[in-house]
Amino acid sequence: MAMLIILVLSLLITVQGNEDSFSNICKRGDETCEKRVVNVEEFGAIGDGVSDDTKAFISAWKAACSRPKSVFLVPKRSTYLVNATMFAGPCAGRLTVKIDGTIVAPSDPKHWNAKFGRMWLGFSNLTGVLFKGKGVIDGSGSKWWAASCKRNRTNPCVGAPTALTLEKSSNIRFRDLTIRNSQQIHFAISHSNSVRVTNAVITAPGNSPNTDGIHITQSTNVFLKKCSIATGDDCISIVSGSSNIKMKLIYCGPGHGISIGSLGKNNASDFVHNIALNGAFMRNTTNGLRIKSWQGGSGYAQAIKFENVIMEDVQNPIIIDQFYCDSFKPCANQTSAVQISDITYLNIFGTTTSNFATKFACSDTVPCKNILMANIVLVKKNGTAETFCNSANGFAFGFIDPPADCLSCSDLYGLRSPTNLMHQIK
Ligand SMILES: *[C@@H]1O[C@H](CO)[C@@H](O)[C@H](O)[C@H]1NC(C)=O
Ligand SMILES: *[C@@H]1O[C@H](CO)[C@@H](O)[C@H](O)[C@H]1NC(C)=O
Ligand SMILES: *[C@@H]1O[C@H](CO)[C@@H](O)[C@H](O)[C@H]1NC(C)=O
Ligand SMILES: *[C@@H]1O[C@H](CO)[C@@H](O)[C@H](O)[C@H]1NC(C)=O
Ligand SMILES: *[C@@H]1O[C@H](CO)[C@@H](O)[C@H](O)[C@H]1NC(C)=O
Ligand SMILES: *[C@@H]1O[C@H](CO)[C@@H](O)[C@H](O)[C@H]1NC(C)=O
Ligand SMILES: *[C@@H]1O[C@H](CO)[C@@H](O)[C@H](O)[C@H]1NC(C)=O
Repeated sequence: MAMLIILVLSLLITVQGNEDSFSNICKRGDETCEKRVVNVEEFGAIGDGVSDDTKAFISAWKAACSRPKSVFLVPKRSTYLVNATMFAGPCAGRLTVKIDGTIVAPSDPKHWNAKFGRMWLGFSNLTGVLFKGKGVIDGSGSKWWAASCKRNRTNPCVGAPTALTLEKSSNIRFRDLTIRNSQQIHFAISHSNSVRVTNAVITAPGNSPNTDGIHITQSTNVFLKKCSIATGDDCISIVSGSSNIKMKLIYCGPGHGISIGSLGKNNASDFVHNIALNGAFMRNTTNGLRIKSWQGGSGYAQAIKFENVIMEDVQNPIIIDQFYCDSFKPCANQTSAVQISDITYLNIFGTTTSNFATKFACSDTVPCKNILMANIVLVKKNGTAETFCNSANGFAFGFIDPPADCLSCSDLYGLRSPTNLMHQIK
């Protein structure tokens, strides 16, 4: 196990992305150079962290978006205060957004205009854009967290903004992005196709409410690689309408783990398929690998594979919860549920802080089907870890500790043939 930890860590630390042709930003005055830098300061941004730089950002965006091969530049060493803004496309080709400085949100929820909606920095309707730079996107969330009903039940339950949203876009790459202290979700990828996020660093205090790291909804072909996420809610959450999502080399903790769902809220019909996580280190999280759905929903979560994961002090390392109920009053029992099937867990090692290292709390009427486990060792430092199993079937092989007896030998719901099993593992 020590070897595996070292392997995962060294991969996380040493692998660096290849620079590509976009990285070559030209010097001003160089006529032979093909990039055109559009600096927000040339459009009046002050960058003192106090003056409102919203108008300058909007003007600079219009200029950058309208000409091909532009670089929308937020220069380094300054802090720009920007209100909720929608940076909309379509833009001329090959736009680069280079954030080297810090962008901060207005910190007081009282000054959040209702017309701003739930997005702080929104990027919409874009194709073929590269986001890069060593700067920071800072949601200044602390007053929003204090006003949350999760913090104090006397507060009204109202939503807070998402720091960065990408929506209705395709062929987008994000490289070296740092997002911190979001009002609520840090980075949402919504209604988009073909999005690649590399080397993102996302941080907020472990007790900040609902501050998910990366939230993927209604999107396909998303690849998250070498991302480090420490927040107060899910490190990564993948919800309805999402498919072909790949995650590789993810550091997560503190937080609520990597989640598929929640699905099926308010009797919704939700669909998620083809999700793969390969290589993660999770530490001090409430959940590790979680699939969660509400009673009363329908649809499915299928073909989900988690492999090569190290856990340290994780409360629920492996969990499927078809009775998820994130509300102050108990949820009504219902018979319909989101169908969960073809779920693979391969090479998962580490420590649990609760008695149940593995929990399959599946619906009696809609059981979890074809769960496959191989090479799992999850130990409790003080005491013995167990598996909880309700209405789950599938197959377990290799070394499994704690044992998942409920999975072996059950072909009540049509266990796959050995060939298909091997296919699921590959
Ligand atoms: C998105 O871009 C397309 C052209 O590519 C345009 O027709 C459409 O109006 C844009 N939609 C929005 C919401 O801006
Ligand atoms: C930013 O928001 C504040 C508070 O709502 C408002 O006073 C200010 O005018 C806004 N600035 C711009 C450029 O919209
Ligand atoms: C919750 O808010 C109420 C009313 O503002 C306040 O009296 C109470 O001290 C707060 N509780 C906590 C735990 O902050
Ligand atoms: C675990 O995370 C919590 C915040 O969620 C933090 O208060 C605590 O110090 C962390 N524990 C360790 C051992 O890092
Ligand atoms: C979900 O369906 C159940 C059973 O039909 C119904 O009682 C309940 O009100 C529905 N809930 C919502 C939020 O629509
Ligand atoms: C749902 O069913 C469980 C188990 O039968 C029971 O313990 C629980 O009280 C029920 N919840 C509600 C809200 O009826
Ligand atoms: C684990 O056990 C040791 C020795 O029995 C004890 O001192 C320690 O407090 C325990 N830790 C926890 C987290 O229960």
